[in-house]
Formats: sequence, structure tokens, C-alpha cells
Amino acid sequence: MTGTLVVIGQGYVGLPMALRAAEGGFKVYGLDTNAKTVEALNSGLSHIDDVSDDELRRGLKNGFEASGDPAVIGLADVVLVCVPTPLAEEGGPDLEAVRMAAGTIGDYITPKTLAILESTTYPGTTEEVFAPLVSKGGLTVGEDIFIAFSPERIDPGNEKYGVRNTPKVVGGMTEACTIQAVQFYTHFVDTVVPAKGAKEAEMSKLIENTFRHVNIALVNEMLRFSHELDIDLWNAIDCAETKPFGFMAFRPGPGVGGHCIPVDPSYLSHRVKARLGYSFRMVELAEEINTAAPLYVADRVRELLNERERSVKGAKILLLGVTYKANISDMRESPADPLAKRLIGWGADVSYHDPHVPQWQPHRAGVSLTSVEDPDQAASVADLTILLQLHSTYNLPALASRAKCMLDTRGVSQNDGRVAKL
Ligand SMILES: NC(=O)c1ccc[n+]([C@@H]2O[C@H](COP(=O)([O-])OP(=O)(O)OC[C@H]3O[C@@H](n4cnc5c(N)ncnc54)[C@H](O)[C@@H]3O)[C@@H](O)[C@H]2O)c1
Repeated sequence: MTGTLVVIGQGYVGLPMALRAAEGGFKVYGLDTNAKTVEALNSGLSHIDDVSDDELRRGLKNGFEASGDPAVIGLADVVLVCVPTPLAEEGGPDLEAVRMAAGTIGDYITPKTLAILESTTYPGTTEEVFAPLVSKGGLTVGEDIFIAFSPERIDPGNEKYGVRNTPKVVGGMTEACTIQAVQFYTHFVDTVVPAKGAKEAEMSKLIENTFRHVNIALVNEMLRFSHELDIDLWNAIDCAETKPFGFMAFRPGPGVGGHCIPVDPSYLSHRVKARLGYSFRMVELAEEINTAAPLYVADRVRELLNERERSVKGAKILLLGVTYKANISDMRESPADPLAKRLIGWGADVSYHDPHVPQWQPHRAGVSLTSVEDPDQAASVADLTILLQLHSTYNLPALASRAKCMLDTRGVSQNDGRVAKL
């Protein structure tokens, strides 16, 4: 046994981390405030796409146990915090769950414990928000207890990279904290990368996601004028990608979603504005462009129907794949929501198919929808079918051959009389 670990927050990030650590020899308590989650996990039922029930049951045999009792923190050598950090109404990070978790750690922590924040947040959170609550009992950081930040890099649905083989960046509040945190992760992660400090580790996560956000915005903006200029941007990107150096391909689509890309860069721009009084213009522009992407899809729908002498009002429109990325069930910040809201607002008769989402209430659209059973059949009766996510269960040639008219937002089809790329 390597020691006792408590992982606070048993969601997309916390559960895979807890199971991997149990595999690496730790006794692991998965602490969660949601009693139903705790009960389901202890009975071997996983609520996370990337964790099968079999894997969870193996974890339970390996020493993993879900718990709702914060007193387990008193048993821990290490505590990891993987709680949500959503955006607050005014656009800044909502750190309520981080504060709650840190306060709870402070209530139960014992000397020599290592506490690591993994939730994505703005640089400075570990030192300014997390540490004061964890050490509120008067323990000195770097001597009595150790505190670090290590950004979570989980990529839902990625079959190649998981907790073990994705390098882990770690930055402690003091050198001793970094050393302790590096030693901890080395037990079950192949490569651990020490950062200069907690702020640099926090910033590294935001650079990664801001980089994606800005580059996706670049191609999403280029898509609009490429369409007007009759240039196939997907083909141009495929060609550019043949350059063996200095280029990384990003492809346009219906908009960005998920918990990271549309959200994390805002933490940074909010911090820059609040602290320094000026804007992080690249992020603001990327946000503007990527937020408008689903509405551009709606404009293309209107254009395609117009070419067929149809109005959006009354048209049967089928959406295929409404999750934020392919082959997962996560709907957070999915661009399908604003698209459906816009089309329904224009009077379209919207239906959808998604093998991962049986029921769907598009955000603020005032309707409750059930996934159609047969996407090929539904495409044959819809006036327009929109491919949003190319789930692996979709047979694109079959769908394209049945659809009356199809808008492919992923650029994977060939343009013909009935199929149009975005
Ligand atoms: N999902 C991803 O792909 C991903 C990737 C990288 C980073 N992150 C970051 O990791 C963090 C966690 O995200 P997630 O997707 O795992 O969230 P999630 O919503 O899937 O899970 C969070 C869990 O924490 C629990 N929880 C909330 N407050 C708690 C508290 N005070 N004490 C104990 N449990 C509590 C919830 O009940 C839930 O089970 C976020 O900061 C997110 O930005 C997520």
C-alpha cells in the first residue's frame, strides 16, 4: 500500500484519477457531496462515459471506495480536489465548490498531508483562495502541510491518452510542496513535469485551452469567407497539414463546447481585466467568433432552404449528434443548444438523433425532445438534416443517400446537389 488518498469530486475528472491511483496501490476514498453518485459508485455503477462498470468494479476490488463522509480526509496522506469550476453569471469563475472543498479539507486535515487542487481556474487561485482555507487551522504551508496545483488534462472519449500516459504538470507553493506532489503522481503517472510554481502550473492549463480556442476561432472565421469565395477550407487545411513543421491543423465546425474550451479562457481574461484593468483581446475575439458559430450554421440552413424555395418556418429539421464532441454523452455548452434555440425561434419543426442522449431540452428553447429511433429514416423525411457530431455509429454514406438535403458541419462529405459542407 502506497498510502491513503482522498479524491474530492467524483465526476469526469475525479473518478478516473481515483481508479488509476487505486490501481497504483493507494487506498482511495472518492468523496462526493452527491449521495446518489456515492451509492451508485459503491454498487459498481459508473456515471462516466470513459469508465466502464467493469473498470469501476476492478477499482472497488483494488481499494477504491466512494464516500460522502468528509471525515475520511483525516485519514489521508494526499487529498486531490476535482470539483467543478463553472462560469458565474458575470463571466468570471464560480469558485464556490473549490471554496467548499478547501474549507472541508481545512476542517479535517492532519499534519504532513499533501493537498492538490486539480480544478481548472485562474492563476493565483491555489495561493489566494485554496491555501488559506486548507491551512486555516494554523498549519504552515511547506512545513506542516504541502499544497500544489496540478491541471487536469483528461480528454473524454480519448482512447489513446488517459491518466497514466498523459504527462502531469505539477507546481507547488514551495519547493518542498512541488517535490512532494511530483513524488505522489510518479506512483501512477508515467511522466510528471515540475513547474516553477503553482501559478505557472495554473497558467499552463489556460495556455493549452486558450490556444485551442483561438485556433478554432481562426478557422471558424475563415470558413465564412471561404464559403463566399467558393473555396473548400477543409481541403485547404488538409493540404496545409502536409507541411511537416510549423503547422498544426484545426478544423471548423458548428462551435466549441464542453467544460474547457468555451469556459477556461474566460477565467484568464476575467483575471486580466479584474487585476490589470485591460482586455485579453485575442480571447475576447475568439469567444465572439466561436459563440457565433452555431448561429452561422442557422444562417446556412436558411440559405439552403431558400435555394429549395422553402422557409425555415415550418421546415422539418433533423439534428444529428447533439453532444459537444463525438462518441460521448456530455452536453455541457454544446453548440447544438443555441442552434436549436435559433431554429425553433424561427418556427422550424426540430427533431434530433443522438445515440448518447435519449432526451433533450435545448437550453431556453422551451421544448422537450426525444431522440428519433432511426436516423436514416428520419433523414429521409426531414427537409434538412444537419450533421453536428459524427458519432462512430453513423453511417455517413447511408445517411447522405437517404437525406433530402444535408448540411455537413464537419466537412467530411463531398458536396453534391443534396449534401453541402458548412
Ligand atoms: N470534464 C473534462 O473534460 C475536464 C477536463 C479538464 C479539466 N476539467 C476540470 O476539472 C474540474 C472538474 O470537472 P468535471 O468535469 O470532473 O466535473 P463534474 O461535474 O463531472 O464532477 C464534479 C463532481 O464534484 C462533485 N462536487 C461538487 N462540489 C463538491 C464538494 N464541495 N465536495 C465534494 N464533491 C463535490 C459533484 O457532485 C460531481 O460529482 C473542473 O474544474 C473542470 O474545469 C474537466
